[in-house]
Amino acid sequence: MKTIVLGGTNSKELARKLARKSKAKYGHLIVDHFPDGERYIRLPFDVKDKKIILVESMFPNPDLIMIETIFAARTCKELGAKQVILVAPYLAYLRQDKRFHPRECWSNRIMAALLTCADKIIVIDPHLQRISKLSEIFRISSKRISANKVLGEYIKKNIKNPLILGPDLESFQWAQKIADMIRVQSTVLRKKRYTSRHVKIKLKNGHEIKNRNIVIIDDIISSGHTMIEVIKQARKKGAKTITCMAVHGIFAENAYNKMKKAGATRIITTNTIQNKTSKIDVSGVIAESLT
Ligand code: R5P
Repeated sequence: MKTIVLGGTNSKELARKLARKSKAKYGHLIVDHFPDGERYIRLPFDVKDKKIILVESMFPNPDLIMIETIFAARTCKELGAKQVILVAPYLAYLRQDKRFHPRECWSNRIMAALLTCADKIIVIDPHLQRISKLSEIFRISSKRISANKVLGEYIKKNIKNPLILGPDLESFQWAQKIADMIRVQSTVLRKKRYTSRHVKIKLKNGHEIKNRNIVIIDDIISSGHTMIEVIKQARKKGAKTITCMAVHGIFAENAYNKMKKAGATRIITTNTIQNKTSKIDVSGVIAESLT
C-alpha cells in the first residue's frame, strides 16, 4: 500500500521531513477560508487505497486546527483512503482531564471522541496527569511516543557536565529518564500550583547548584511560570548557566521574554510546535514509530 504524508497548517516542515525519512510522497493540505471565516479544505492528491499519515500539531490556534483535522481525516476516509493515521505531535485539550468545577466541560474526552475520524492516533509526550494511557480516552488505536531520545542527544552534544532539574513530580518521566539515559546527575523538585499563573517550587539547600550547568526539563512551556520559578532560584544559588528545555514550546503571554528576563541562558524545544526555540527535530522519532 502506498503511503502519503499530509502536512496540516502548523506542521508542514515537520511533515515534509517525516515524508523524506519514511520515503513517502508528501503534500500539504490546501487550506483557505470562505468569506464568512469558515475553513475550506482540499486534499492535494487522490487518496484512494492509500495509507495517509496526517500530521497536525494543535498549537497555535487549537480550535481551528481541530476542525481542520476532523475535516481532513473525514475527507480522506470518504474518498477511499485505506487507513488514516493522525500524528498529533502536540495534542491540545488534554489538560482539562476532569470536571474541576460544576458544569465544566470535560474537554479531553470530547476531543478524543471527535478525533475518532482517524483510524489511529500517535502523540508525542502527551500531557497525561490524571489518566495514565491515551487508550483511557480514545476509542481508536492510540500510541504515545517520546522525544526523550532526541532531547538527551542534544544535552550530550551541547552541555558540559549538566545537572538536570525536573520542576515537579510529573517531570520525572522526562528529567529523570533523560538523566539516566545519558548518565548525568538529576533532581526532581516539588511544585505547588495555586493558579495557572502562580506556582511555587523550592530548591533545597542540599541541591548543589553553584557553578553548575543547569538544565531544566519539562514537557510543556505554557505561561513559563514553572520554568521561571526554577530559573530564579537556580540563579540565586549561583548556577553558571541555565538551559530550559521542553518537548512542546507554547510560550503563551510572552513567556519566552519573561524566561530570558528571569535569567535563562538558553531555551530549547522540539519542533512538535514550530517556533524560534524548536531546534530539536522529532521527525526521526515519528518515523520510527510508523515502522
Ligand atoms: C504541568 O504539570 C506541566 O508538566 C508543566 O509543568 C506545565 O504545564 C507548565 O506550564 P506553565 O509554563 O504555564 O507553568
